[in-house]
Amino acid sequence: MPDVKSAGRIVVLLGAPGVGKGTQGVRLGRELGWAHVSTGDLLRAALRDGTRLGLEARRYMDAGELVPDGVMIDLVREHLAGLEPGRGVVFDGFPRTVQQAEALDRALAPEGRAVGVVALLDAPESVLFKRISGRRSSPGGRVYNVYFDPPRRDGICDETGEPLIHRADDQPDTVRTRLAVYQKATAPLIGHYDAKGILVRVGAEGDIDQVYAALHAAVGGHRAAHAATTGR
Ligand code: AP5
Repeated sequence: MPDVKSAGRIVVLLGAPGVGKGTQGVRLGRELGWAHVSTGDLLRAALRDGTRLGLEARRYMDAGELVPDGVMIDLVREHLAGLEPGRGVVFDGFPRTVQQAEALDRALAPEGRAVGVVALLDAPESVLFKRISGRRSSPGGRVYNVYFDPPRRDGICDETGEPLIHRADDQPDTVRTRLAVYQKATAPLIGHYDAKGILVRVGAEGDIDQVYAALHAAVGGHRAAHAATTGR
């Protein structure tokens, strides 16, 4: 297995709703000892806490639309400022537009940092719908699946004992909107990062362990190739 710890200290997970960004991001972050930053989780926490941000974001999230770039960029900047300086980060769900990607570059530049690898997780829509229909989430963000990754006790989080919920934006009509929004606003990031030479493609149709192995290999392999050509 390549030394994924030497991969650029900023990894972005890119991919359609339900492809497994959260599932894989938590695991990669844990293995590397890096922060896993999911903007969806940050927004859902703000919603639960009833903050102004949560109230503002709710109508976009419920409709399956993107929260405006300015709001998201401020949220991520603020979150990054609270992390230990230089700590590695696995981003999940951010950036989601070219404008967000450019803002992330500007936020990292003063520390001499940059996005190292962007892993595009890819699976057909039929797989995404099946995964989303079976998803159950704990308020703390732990994600299960009634078909593929069930909790030990039906409807209860293994880690916290809290009741699991079906996300409000996981209704089929909203999922269709989210997929359309992904194609329109987020898919252009594939070309954006490919042109920078930092995009790796990861087939995400397999089971959770198979996808993790492919992600791990792709991120580590990309880094090894980068080091071989640049000496860094
Ligand atoms: P967000 O929470 O980011 O939603 P998303 O991108 O649509 O992604 P999901 O959380 O639906 O899926 P995932 O890829 O993380 O899959 P998961 O691992 O859960 O965003 C929600 C909303 O917030 C947006 O619509 C928007 O309104 C707003 N927002 C967030 N970020 C924003 C931003 N940057 N800008 C603007 N607005 C923003 O897996 C899915 C299910 O499948 C789970 O049940 C899991 O257990 C299962 N599973 C995972 N992998 C596998 C596998 N390999 N095999 C079988 N089952 C699997």
